[in-house]
Amino acid sequence: MPALSAPKILVHVRNTDATDWIDGIKRWAPDIEAVQLADDRLPDGLDPASIDISVCWRMPHGLHAQLPNLKLIQSMAAGVDHILSDPRRPAEVAIARLVDPWMARSMTHHVVSQILRWHRTLDRFDACKAEESWPTNVIFDPDAVSIGILGMGVLGQAAARALSALGFPVKGWSRSPKSVEGIDVLNGADGLDGIVRTSNAVVCLLPLTTETADILNADLFAKMPSGGFLLNVGRGGHVVEADLLAALESGQLEAASLDVFRTEPLPKGHPFWRHPKIWPTPHIASEINLPTATRAFAETIRRVRAGEVPDGLIDPEKGY
Ligand code: NAP
Ligand code: GLV
Repeated sequence: MPALSAPKILVHVRNTDATDWIDGIKRWAPDIEAVQLADDRLPDGLDPASIDISVCWRMPHGLHAQLPNLKLIQSMAAGVDHILSDPRRPAEVAIARLVDPWMARSMTHHVVSQILRWHRTLDRFDACKAEESWPTNVIFDPDAVSIGILGMGVLGQAAARALSALGFPVKGWSRSPKSVEGIDVLNGADGLDGIVRTSNAVVCLLPLTTETADILNADLFAKMPSGGFLLNVGRGGHVVEADLLAALESGQLEAASLDVFRTEPLPKGHPFWRHPKIWPTPHIASEINLPTATRAFAETIRRVRAGEVPDGLIDPEKGY
């Protein structure tokens, strides 16, 4: 990337004032100029040709196409599907995702909490309050619970390591071969098949791409051992909703914890809200943490200024 003297940054967070984010980035990079959208449009008087870098979460489609000198689109999130889904995205502009160890820790906490909630049947004990009596023969066997993690990237590997350290047998699935101590990582369609057939719990930590859309479907649920658990922390577009409802209805799946949805926030009246076997959360598995994320963005800006390669560059062909 060619070096830049004093980059001008456009910062956008959908439905949120971006002042805190601008202040956060300027704390680490005081000499940059940063602006935000006004009512989802470029502010009056701003020369679109002056913007070098966009730092964004769900930028309105078509806006990046108005910036003729844009060098980098930096996602405010680990996922970049919100950028790639813009049909007018300038194809020549590089895209980077957020890589922040804070997020891996937060995601790991969420994944572990949901796996333990299911494995330790915590909902069952909550339900006992109405009866004022406990169930008999309560036994938990972590060796009898195999966990398959779909997506062994930054977040998937962190979650897989934590679950393995808790004593659960864990397998992972990625696109390319990789070696992760104590965890079998498989690839390709056969690898997916092998993991799903032997996993009582499937955790989706994939990016949403043309290859992974709708991957959590009737075929996958049918291959899992009966009475399984699904945790989707990837994207809502990974789940075929009708197939999930059918698998829960038949008992093929015992429960599903869903943090992401096709429409967010989850619309009122959606069947997932009231379903007794669905545990919804509002896309909070791993929040974007302002202090650490803005530091990462400032480091990206420093690298772009210096003509160095920023962290987290994605391959638009692969979609992540
Ligand atoms: P990442 O480091 O890019 O990892 C993605 C993983 O998915 C990689 O292991 C990759 O394989 C694998 N993968 C991609 N396409 C595949 C395919 N077709 N077949 C098999 N494996 C495939 O991403 P990350 O930082 O871990 O984040 C993953 C996703 O989590 C994000 O894209 C986002 O959707 C979601 N997320 C959700 C939240 C939340 O709060 N719910 C927060 C952050 C992120 P390779 O390793 O071989 O490339
Ligand atoms: C959040 O969903 C992210 O992609 O970081």
